[in-house]
Amino acid sequence: MKYREIREQVIEASLKAQKLGLIRGTSGNISVRCEDSGLIAISPTSIPYEDLTPELVPLVDLDGNVVDGTTKPSSECPMHTAVMRNRKDVNAVVHTHSKFSTILSIIGQELPLITIPLLGYAPTPAPIVPFEIPGSAALAEAVVKGLGEKGSAVLMENHGMLAVGSTIDKAMTCTEYIEEGAEITFYCRLAGKVKGIDPQVLAEMIAILKSGRAL
Ligand code: 13P
Repeated sequence: MKYREIREQVIEASLKAQKLGLIRGTSGNISVRCEDSGLIAISPTSIPYEDLTPELVPLVDLDGNVVDGTTKPSSECPMHTAVMRNRKDVNAVVHTHSKFSTILSIIGQELPLITIPLLGYAPTPAPIVPFEIPGSAALAEAVVKGLGEKGSAVLMENHGMLAVGSTIDKAMTCTEYIEEGAEITFYCRLAGKVKGIDPQVLAEMIAILKSGRAL
């Protein structure tokens, strides 16, 4: 079977996201690109994650054309492929409807850099991209614009979040930390205070991370 490894990575990540409560039912979608061929394994639309086998994970090209598989790719395939077309450094995309990221997107609170784990994975605040119909080219365009050349994640208004990474592990870790940061931000807002980290200290910590030391 072709590209078994990336197809298995899609299933493994989907089940992990489900176990962590980041996705429920058949919501959310995950894609992984094979660096050599450029082909992308993406979760199929509307199939329960626990029923997935590598054969049921379709392979698409960068324009979303199915090149192998019998199932229909996720309805958000245009968004995944648009991100990968625009970002050569991205080999994995994770989209979830996770609770606290969605809350922040609805109350219009972009995710500030207030927690340490976010530093290593989303070293710019995660912006909110305006609502567009799920699966539309307009949503794909808005997400690409929100991520820009360097962004790791965006909140999607009244919808959820999307995180990217050079590997599926990085994209998944980013997803987890974004959701954790969103939860902390939400409770801080409820408590009446959201205090960011001093920008100078922030710059120092980013330099430490770039030097290879963990924080
Ligand atoms: P798919 O099952 O087509 O991936 O759609 C789920 C979803 O979350 C759309 O945003």
